[in-house]
Amino acid sequence: MCGIVGYIGPREAYPIVVKGLERLEYRGYDSAGIVLYDGKNAQLCKTKGKVADLKAKAENENITKGNIGLGHTRWATHGVPNDVNAHPHYSNSGDLVIIHNGIIENYGSIKTALEKRGYTFQSDTDTEVLVNLIEYIKNKEEVKLGKAVQIALNQVIGAYAIAVFDRTKPDEIVAAKLGSPLAIGIGEDEFFIASDASPFIEFTNNAIYLEDEQMAIIKLGRDVKIREIKNDKPVAPFVHELQLNLEQIEKNGYDHFMLKEIHEQPEAIKDTYRGRLRINEGIIKMAGIEDNLEKILKAKRIIIVACGTSWHAGLVAEYIFEDLVRIPVEVEYASEFRYRNPVITSEDVVIAISQSGETADTLAAIKLAKQHGAFVFGVCNVVGSSIARESHAGAYTHAGPEIGVASTKAFTTQITVLTLIALKLAQSKGMISKTDFHKYLAEMEAIPAKVEESLKVDDHIKYISSVYKDSPNFLYLGRGYNFPVALEGALKLKEISYIHAEGYPAAEMKHGPIALIDEQMPVVVIATKKGHYEKVVSNIQEIKSRKGKIIGIVTKGDTEVKSMADYVIEVPETIEGLTPLLTTIPLQLLSYHIAVMRGCNVDQPRNLAKSVTVE
Ligand code: F6R
Repeated sequence: MCGIVGYIGPREAYPIVVKGLERLEYRGYDSAGIVLYDGKNAQLCKTKGKVADLKAKAENENITKGNIGLGHTRWATHGVPNDVNAHPHYSNSGDLVIIHNGIIENYGSIKTALEKRGYTFQSDTDTEVLVNLIEYIKNKEEVKLGKAVQIALNQVIGAYAIAVFDRTKPDEIVAAKLGSPLAIGIGEDEFFIASDASPFIEFTNNAIYLEDEQMAIIKLGRDVKIREIKNDKPVAPFVHELQLNLEQIEKNGYDHFMLKEIHEQPEAIKDTYRGRLRINEGIIKMAGIEDNLEKILKAKRIIIVACGTSWHAGLVAEYIFEDLVRIPVEVEYASEFRYRNPVITSEDVVIAISQSGETADTLAAIKLAKQHGAFVFGVCNVVGSSIARESHAGAYTHAGPEIGVASTKAFTTQITVLTLIALKLAQSKGMISKTDFHKYLAEMEAIPAKVEESLKVDDHIKYISSVYKDSPNFLYLGRGYNFPVALEGALKLKEISYIHAEGYPAAEMKHGPIALIDEQMPVVVIATKKGHYEKVVSNIQEIKSRKGKIIGIVTKGDTEVKSMADYVIEVPETIEGLTPLLTTIPLQLLSYHIAVMRGCNVDQPRNLAKSVTVE
């Protein structure tokens, strides 16, 4: 969590750093700060609140000048969000200043040792401890900043992406990474540092992504030198050519990133299957699977590890894989899996699903699986992310940047890619007839247009949202492939509108949750024609007879559920395995509109951050 931005070059750093922080606000937004060096003085401005608050404060205090700048937008871990705990942090002498994304786990013992040597601390943060440790080493060992950073980082346990500046030697920034992402933009005589490439995309297409345990010494007007932190060896930098463009990271006329990303789904799904789904040749092309086909098909078990929405996509995949490939699947919360001494063998294939590719628990789960000899296949959106790099093989979702904190297009593109994998394996294993395979491919190709159609009933969904926006609770029910969609619908509603919501398998109702039903309780029931329709209709009757309010997600033209429900939202017909790609859409829109109507900050819900790089 937290976003960091730095600039060193001939331009004014302030607008670059502030704009960069705005783009990184999805990573944390409880406080923000900036430090600028104008050739003589370093000026610091920090505040509780969002980047907009920082901007107002900095401009009011005239802290806008300088060609070197570091900025930070925070998601608090150590110390409450307030002005003092906000980054950047100075060292005791005031010479060094740092921004940090991550957690220094052994900061307590380091702090005590530094206090014994006379150091004092203003904030409750682990970061202030780190900058003082660097200063202590720099003075004691009489070394340059880069060396002091290297020695200090060998003493800390935890995760970090940092940038440090020394005002007594103001021609360099030292950056380092372990566990948290860090990109360095390479311009002409200028350099950018950021948690992802979005802050510098209009200035350069060239970026170095630091690997774990690497540091960079970035010299004004000169170059970037990369070294390994453990053994101080130089590393030849690999410069990536970025595929990002400005349009992808701006709202483009939508009120919120979440709404934009909901509407991007038809294109995003196409981008996911483009080049892979080859109807004319009757094949699915996926190098990551083809290169490892034998190993994957021989798997005794597939274990899916993920968190949050990605975990829900994993649950959908469990249905698809068991249905089509007949390999047993277990879906695990990465956070539980990593700490419960799971049984993993070299005959297991572990699929890690993550939009960001940086989720700490998922990353730890795959490291554990690798230690036990399992083959790890990553399904990520962010190219070059830690999980993508840590996996033996993988497939990208190609959804484009997802900036809204609530995952939308990541979910549907994850399901798309997982379905392609299942189909590819089923075909290779001879588990699916040519006709059924072809039918699936044709239907998959038709999905973007059907998603488009599902988006057209937005006004109707808006109306339903206005009816139920003040309900304190919601239930979401689904069966089979649509049970994970019910969980996802409930998660979307609670995370952005703060309404309590639960997702359940529809048949589980009578084992407890039915006690909650009364005339106040809206129940969203996914009741598409394909997928246990009659059973779900019976469940609807059970709710109806207890006076619950029914919002049915139904197949276009349905009359039976319509006659029982208070409202229905139609989605086009498709084959059962692909229904989640359509039934998810109205649930995303419903949560979006309810949140907007309740005055919630849709793109930056309270307490959350997009990329959960702490455990
Ligand atoms: C919910 C949401 C989160 C993420 C979860 C995993 O809308 O966005 O639940 O799905 O934090 O993140 P990734 O997929 O980046 O590993």
